[in-house]
Amino acid sequence: MFRLKALLYYATIAIVINGSSGSEDTGRFVCRLEDPPNQCGEFCLTALMPLIDHIAKVQEQSKTCNLDNGLSKTKLEEIEGHQKDIQTQIESQKTSLTESWKKIIADDIGNRINGLESKQLKMEGQLSAIQDSLTTIKKSLENVIWEKIISQGFKRIGSRYLYIENNDSRNWSSASRTCKQMGGNLASILNREDFDAIVSQLNDGESYLVGITDVAEKGVFISVSSGKEAPFLKWKPGEPIYYHDDQRCVTIHDGAMWVDGCSSSHKFICEAGYII
Ligand SMILES: *[C@@H]1O[C@H](CO)[C@@H](O)[C@H](O)[C@H]1NC(C)=O
Ligand SMILES: *[C@@H]1O[C@H](CO)[C@@H](O)[C@H](O)[C@H]1NC(C)=O
Repeated sequence: MFRLKALLYYATIAIVINGSSGSEDTGRFVCRLEDPPNQCGEFCLTALMPLIDHIAKVQEQSKTCNLDNGLSKTKLEEIEGHQKDIQTQIESQKTSLTESWKKIIADDIGNRINGLESKQLKMEGQLSAIQDSLTTIKKSLENVIWEKIISQGFKRIGSRYLYIENNDSRNWSSASRTCKQMGGNLASILNREDFDAIVSQLNDGESYLVGITDVAEKGVFISVSSGKEAPFLKWKPGEPIYYHDDQRCVTIHDGAMWVDGCSSSHKFICEAGYII
């Protein structure tokens, strides 16, 4: 009963949509379903059967609605898929753009660093060249000094290069000037070993002036080469003995020291002013 009512209802709609505009002059049957069973009769129903079947099909479909929904869902998913694709594309473009910028910035910084590095390398090269030049200069200077020291008659005695004047006798100021002209000073005595080495080179019975004096302050013996107190003194017994005020210059005589007059002439010992 419900089913028949439903069929008639759909038929009415179908006929209103399809048939109400239909006219009698086309010769086609017009069914105004105000009272379908009476109005249409058997013929009407027979003619309407295909339509009714179709409506029934539609009704079957509408019962579940799954197909349409499925289609809509598919469409929706398709659209969503497109949206996602677009979004992905935008994201990937954004990423690649960011990466490009990063790369450009990194490249720029990289180039700058490379530039600095090459400058640094260049400077290091120049520095090493300067160092090489300095080493060469130092070596040739050392050679010049060495040659000068040797040519002046300095020789290694103990820890240093000394010149012992055995021929010429001079007073303190003159001997000191001579040593300076040779590129040195009247010799100081660093320690016992140096003193013993020097003494072994001296002639017996001769006095040799060295660079030690207490002319500035009586009793305070200074090495002239350093301006500091003499690090080593070996006095003869009772020395220093002052017989007169000029006795302020130290000489070595027979393996020990005494103070003598600075105006008195003696042999003398010079030390090389350059230390190699
Ligand atoms: C020694 O000194 C004298 C005079 O001061 C000088 O004529 C002579 O050439 C010197 N000898 C040596 C070997 O230096
Ligand atoms: C030292 O000797 C030089 C040259 O022989 C001389 O001119 C000078 O007056 C002397 N000095 C002293 C303090 O004797």
